[in-house]
Amino acid sequence: MNTVRMDAVLNDTNTVTPALVVDFDIIRNTYHRFENAFPGAHIDYAVKANAHPLIMREVVELGGGLEIASLAELNRALEVGATGQRIICSNPIKNPTFLARMQNAGVYACVVDSTHEVEKVAKFAPGSRVYVRLAVDNTGSVLPLAGKFGVDGQTALALFDQARELGLQPIGLSFHVGSQCLKVANWVNALKASGDVMRQAAERGHDLYFVDIGGGFPAGHWHNAEIPSVEEIGVAVMQAVADYIPAHPNLMLILEPGRGLVGDSGKMMAEVVGIAQRGTDTWLYLDAGVFNGLMETYEGFPPVVGVLNGEGRPMRKYTLAGPSCDSCDVVARHIELPEVEIGDRLVFVDAGAYTNEYAAAFNGFPIPEFIPLNVEQIMFEVYVA
Ligand SMILES: Cc1ncc(COP(=O)(O)O)c(C=O)c1O
Repeated sequence: MNTVRMDAVLNDTNTVTPALVVDFDIIRNTYHRFENAFPGAHIDYAVKANAHPLIMREVVELGGGLEIASLAELNRALEVGATGQRIICSNPIKNPTFLARMQNAGVYACVVDSTHEVEKVAKFAPGSRVYVRLAVDNTGSVLPLAGKFGVDGQTALALFDQARELGLQPIGLSFHVGSQCLKVANWVNALKASGDVMRQAAERGHDLYFVDIGGGFPAGHWHNAEIPSVEEIGVAVMQAVADYIPAHPNLMLILEPGRGLVGDSGKMMAEVVGIAQRGTDTWLYLDAGVFNGLMETYEGFPPVVGVLNGEGRPMRKYTLAGPSCDSCDVVARHIELPEVEIGDRLVFVDAGAYTNEYAAAFNGFPIPEFIPLNVEQIMFEVYVA
């Protein structure tokens, strides 16, 4: 991938910090890799990863769908040109206004994973298509999502029955293997479990054709870990679909990549604004921290970070903190970096997902400026004013 433009922006002293520089060539390239690795699958970008309108529009223009969680995400999806048919909602908890609005917009389907939610969907979006979220193994993912959502197979079957009784259309299953999932077997095992449930559902007269394997696709440079590629995951998933999912003439395989689609495309640049020696620890204070861009580090996701033009300097151990007054605003402890001074710039890679989207201007510190590279001019003019 050509990094000339990215390097030019990072090295331009006029580039303000904090900044999130996003290369749309990388997003396009990654999208095509997903398309090739999962032939015939629907790519429904999980916009929670980065709901910048330019990114959402790019996915729509590439032919992708959008996975949304809230009314605001729905409104934005429609604004960037997505049609209801290409939108799904995999958030198991939805409020009545959102449900009614989704139905109005013709959103294709939404998830349920409790009897209360089935009742709510039947009341506020009657007749909708619904799919049930299965709880699946999340071990082997860097950010497990297990526990909060999902049901076992028997409960899924009961929810299909209940949905049908209440006039909804049960269409299939979804699951999420955990974010930054490094274990391909998670998808395979989850598909095996899905196939079992689908067969039992068929015996109860349900016609299921929708298999949503969620997100979890890892971004690329994470701490030298063995990162399965989109292609490797694709081979295993397509084989598991053939092996375990009951044949259906209208089978729909859905992917909801968030991090896997946009993570690699972004670099976040922050400036060192303070240095302090505290006991044996050297603290670097940056103008981006857990509140304004680096929230995932607080969730236990160690960043991959370097010093801009730091090559050749002696290595030192640092603790990195954000600019706010809150003591939880610590980004990384005891990491090795080339020696820095105040005014040096640090670059966090794989920062396209869950950075600006999570950010708030707590304490008045601004969220990183979004700097798009390689975007069509017309889109640029509409959305970056
Ligand atoms: C329902 C659902 N789908 C997709 C995603 C995207 O996951 P990832 O960014 O790991 O691909 C998430 C993330 O939380 C999610 O909750």
